[in-house]
This record gives sequence, C-alpha cells and structure tokens, in this order.
Amino acid sequence: MRLSDTPLIDAVRIAARVRQLANEISADYAQSEIVLLTVLKGSFLFAADLLRALSIGATIDFVQARSYDGTNSTGEVHFLYLPETAIAGKHVLIVEDILDTGRTAAAILEHIAALGPASVRLCALLDKPARRVTAVSADYVGFPIGDEFVVGYGLDYEERYRELPAVYTLLSE
Ligand code: XMP
Ligand code: MG
Repeated sequence: MRLSDTPLIDAVRIAARVRQLANEISADYAQSEIVLLTVLKGSFLFAADLLRALSIGATIDFVQARSYDGTNSTGEVHFLYLPETAIAGKHVLIVEDILDTGRTAAAILEHIAALGPASVRLCALLDKPARRVTAVSADYVGFPIGDEFVVGYGLDYEERYRELPAVYTLLSE
C-alpha cells in the first residue's frame, strides 16, 4: 500500500470548506446551541476545526461505533463508546469523517433519535455516495468523493496516517 503522490484534497481546500460548513451550520441553527456528536476516531480533527469555526454555542461529545475491519465493511455496527451528554431536548449534529455504506451513521442516528433530541442532523467531511447501502444522506457534506479508500486529516488505514494535514488516496501496489 502507498499514498497518492499528491493529495486528493489539500489542506487549504479542507480549511476553506470547513469554514464554509461552519458558517452554514451557524446560520441554520441561528441562536440555538448544538451538541457536536463526534464519531471517533476518524472525525476528531474535523470536529475540532469545525467547533472552533462555529459562531454559535456548541458543546462536544463523542460516540464510537465500528463497522469496519481494514478496508472491508463488515456490515455490523458495534458501539464502543456512547455520549455522556443528556441528549433529550438537545439539537444534535453528528460529525462523521466519511459516509461510506451509511451503516455506521444509520445506527448512530437510530440510537440518538430514540433519546428524544430536539433535532438530529448529520455532517460528513467526505461522502462516497456510490457505496451507499442504506437510505442515509448527510445534511452537510464537505466533499463528495469516488469509490476509493482515503486517509489523512484524521482518517486512518490500520491506525496510520491520521496525522497527515491533507486527504490522500491509498493505492494498492
Ligand atoms: P459506513 O460504511 O458505515 O462506514 O458508512 C463509515 C466508517 O468507515 C470508515 N471508512 C473509511 N475510513 N478511509 C478511512 O480511513 C476510507 O476511505 C473509509 N471509508 C469508510 C470510517 O471509519 C467511517 O466512519
Ligand atoms: Mg478507520
């Protein structure tokens, strides 16, 4: 495995798009406070940047769910960590690194919806619409991408590459 020589999405484009998303989200929620429900681990850098770019009140919490083993989607979703925030009556924005089959997001949406939030929406930095096997779609998408495995800016392959400032394609050699 090796990385693409140039980023698929460079750090400048990521930063600009995160600012745009934050402005859009801040406008949509107006005076409301939101809970950024960050899906660990891949979304941690995106959520940190998004949180700091919002101009509305926001708290942050985390959820960890796993549907992936290496580069293969297993189809099962297990919760490894659940938010400590009392979700009832809150405006929840789920922050995903990447929407692939949609199984992870569907399972998290179902779990959160059952806790009685005032609203729940989904924000994904990256979206692979061609891979979807569920009806889930994101309310806010950073960048639609093709059916390729990507790493960097929080996203990993077997825990590596999260530290890269840009998003790269992982190529099999
Ligand atoms: P599903 O299929 O449930 O998967 O939408 C979402 C989760 O799968 C991981 N994933 C990736 N991770 N590069 C990664 O580093 C990718 O191209 C990729 N595609 C899916 C990721 O953890 C995501 O939250
Ligand atoms: Mg991963």
